[in-house]
Amino acid sequence: MRKILIANPKGGSGKSTLATHLASWFAWQDDAVMLGDLDKQHSSHHWLDLRPKTLPSIQRWDIGTDHIARPPKGCQVAILDTPACFSGKKLKHAIHLVDHIIVPVLPSAFDLWACADFFADLAELKAVRHDEVKVGIIGMRVNSRTQSAQQLPAFLSRYDLPLLTCLRDTQLYNQTIQRGMTLFDLPYSRTERDRKEWQPLINWLHIR
Ligand SMILES: Nc1ncnc2c1ncn2[C@@H]1O[C@H](COP(=O)(O)OP(=O)(O)OP(=O)(O)O)[C@@H](O)[C@H]1O
Ligand SMILES: [Mg+2]
Repeated sequence: MRKILIANPKGGSGKSTLATHLASWFAWQDDAVMLGDLDKQHSSHHWLDLRPKTLPSIQRWDIGTDHIARPPKGCQVAILDTPACFSGKKLKHAIHLVDHIIVPVLPSAFDLWACADFFADLAELKAVRHDEVKVGIIGMRVNSRTQSAQQLPAFLSRYDLPLLTCLRDTQLYNQTIQRGMTLFDLPYSRTERDRKEWQPLINWLHIR
């Protein structure tokens, strides 16, 4: 079973967007996917409630916010969306239950400063140092022609954490999410450019 945690203590960085998109991508591969949502706003589970029945199904993974149970048997991919400020003890506990952590980051100074401590904490964790848990960073809403796009790799080079890919800023994300869908539920021809951006992340998740 692949167990993926999406985290960044900074709000609005794109955690739920990543969680829902990965759930949909794996569902299209015919994997038994479960989507957990530790956020009291329940963004990912609201999205799941809206998901059209005609699309590949994703199971709701109900988990207590105080004690995160292991994913149920039979599940092939478990994805866990987390709230802003998810750090400290809760993060440490969750890390023992997963094999991949994905951190979405916006390429702005405020966002980068906000996750500096988080990156340092992650890089120090034994499970991360021993490669039992892999950590990957995703640049969110990145316009490759801007100076802030260059800021991201420069900032990350201080930590031993890979920048896997950058996703462009496009209304397609918001348009699909509000219908319980993702870009992966749209025709290939409309999303080819964005699927290419996602591919390094997909490849990374398949490495082990
Ligand atoms: N690549 C993108 N292009 C355009 N809009 C995006 C992109 N990624 C995310 N968004 C938008 O950014 C906003 C924040 O994203 P999201 O809700 O996924 O962040 P979050 O980290 O889960 O927030 P929170 O900390 O509140 O849970 C949403 O409106 C989402 O639609
Ligand atoms: Mg969210």
